[in-house]
Amino acid sequence: MNTNEIRKKFLEFYGKNGHAIAPSDSLIPSGDQTLLFTSAGMVQFKKHFLGQIKLDFTRAASCQKCLRTSDIERVGLTARHLTFFEMLGNFSFGDYFKQEAIAWGWEFLTREAGLDPKRLYASIYEKDDEAFEIWRKIVPADRIIRLGEDSNFWTMGPTGPCGPCSEILFDRGEKYSQDHKCPGPGCDCDRYLEVWNLVFTQFDRGADGKLTSLPQKNIDTGMGLERLNIVINELESTFETDYFQDIIRETKKQIGEGSSVKSLRIVSDHIRASTFLISDGVLPSNEGRGYILRRLLRRALRQGWTHGKKEPFLNKIVPVIVADMKVQYPELSERESSICAIVETEEKNALATIESGTRMLEDEIRKSTGQGVLKAPIGKIKLSGEKVFNIYDTYGLDKEIQREIVLDLKGELDFSETDYEKARAHAAQTARKGWKGSGEKEIIFHSQLSKKSGGNIFRGYETLETQSKVLVLVQEKDGKPTEVAELKAGEEGELILSETPFYAESGGQVGDKGFISHPDDKFRVEVLDTQKPVEGLIAHFVRVTQGTVKTGDAARAVVDAASRAHIMRHHTAT
Ligand code: SER
Repeated sequence: MNTNEIRKKFLEFYGKNGHAIAPSDSLIPSGDQTLLFTSAGMVQFKKHFLGQIKLDFTRAASCQKCLRTSDIERVGLTARHLTFFEMLGNFSFGDYFKQEAIAWGWEFLTREAGLDPKRLYASIYEKDDEAFEIWRKIVPADRIIRLGEDSNFWTMGPTGPCGPCSEILFDRGEKYSQDHKCPGPGCDCDRYLEVWNLVFTQFDRGADGKLTSLPQKNIDTGMGLERLNIVINELESTFETDYFQDIIRETKKQIGEGSSVKSLRIVSDHIRASTFLISDGVLPSNEGRGYILRRLLRRALRQGWTHGKKEPFLNKIVPVIVADMKVQYPELSERESSICAIVETEEKNALATIESGTRMLEDEIRKSTGQGVLKAPIGKIKLSGEKVFNIYDTYGLDKEIQREIVLDLKGELDFSETDYEKARAHAAQTARKGWKGSGEKEIIFHSQLSKKSGGNIFRGYETLETQSKVLVLVQEKDGKPTEVAELKAGEEGELILSETPFYAESGGQVGDKGFISHPDDKFRVEVLDTQKPVEGLIAHFVRVTQGTVKTGDAARAVVDAASRAHIMRHHTAT
């Protein structure tokens, strides 16, 4: 059975048993501020569980797209960890409870999915005698395991619906016990794989941590589609499932047949997650959801980079993902071309900085270890929080990637997160201060500038990148904005272009960020902010990172796709 067939079988089975089939919700939970991403099938039903809305149905089933990033570092290292996955689930809102949930779960796995009943085990919450009695009629007592609150009491976060749970595990055989003597179900090795989690959602946990009984008893179950596929088809790893085989084939084509298993897994998982995130309206940025997306893309990109792939390639894998999954998720094909474009822009931006950032970090490591040529293991590398921020700020190599570079050399990066945050806050403040002097003097200065230059043309609604020309450069001298002929590496100032794709701050929306460079790389400047000091004039506040920029120079202006979040979101919403 392939992925599509398994998903269909599941939904048909629960449909036949009176469940309304709910479409997957977005990865951005609709109307739920407490969660960054949809992490389980039950998220879209929170209000149903809490009895906060009138119910059109009391049983539902779904296949929900989910994202969990808590184990991001383990992706690639194990056979089963993923960030994005699909979760099959059935739900009861004050309708059926433990008896039916367990019986149907068993029937589906043994009859529909064809799993060998002798290889299935059940775990229950240690105090849940009711669940024990129900399981007892299905499997011998020695295949029912009582476990503690840690593993068998499900909560979705610090607050919200929760309750004791019962997991169904599948014994994949001794060869998966790895190198240790497996104590049995409940062990974290790959042998007894947890396939399905049946949660008996009876409580609501308040902000004070207290549990209150819900007005009704509910069922919330969740089963990873990819995991179910592994056990049905007796595969070694998630990455052997049909969808992943296609993605891995394309990844090999892009970064080389001989790439490491770890890299192939990281790339294929992360680009799949990124494709779905962008199709749900997330754009790369330095904060919140956008930061997670940026991290996934950069982490994947670096895998290619370490295998010698120094040009964008992730965007070429997107169409394979869309082709496999568009029947279930039609939003993918509707947005395919913009997903590819956003991934490619992010790749170009990241590649420009990854090399120099890595070099700078390696210099720091050399200083710290005293080694001329870096040889693993390099041990603990202590850097100041300010230095780590500095590498990020100048080269865009975020702290997590810096950690991974050190980890790849079998070392551990040690720095103060507090100092890092202080340096970040300070840099943000300085950038704003350098910019925001808009007193009367500045307004007069900019009005004159606007008249003289004839203003500039805004291209940002059609494109994120334009060829343009540097019209005016401005630097603050003696506290006054002053026109200058050039800005050198390390200097900051204002840059005005003949045409620009950069969107200026207005109506509470922040201005675009990105970079402007000479077509032959004679200079490169980072755009830290974009403002409209007077109507008709868009000014970029920049820092020169390479070469010298002069008025009259040809320029290529590229907006960081992330800073377009507001416009994209608006489009998506409409
Ligand atoms: N909410 C539970 C889980 O995520 C069951 O769906 O495991």
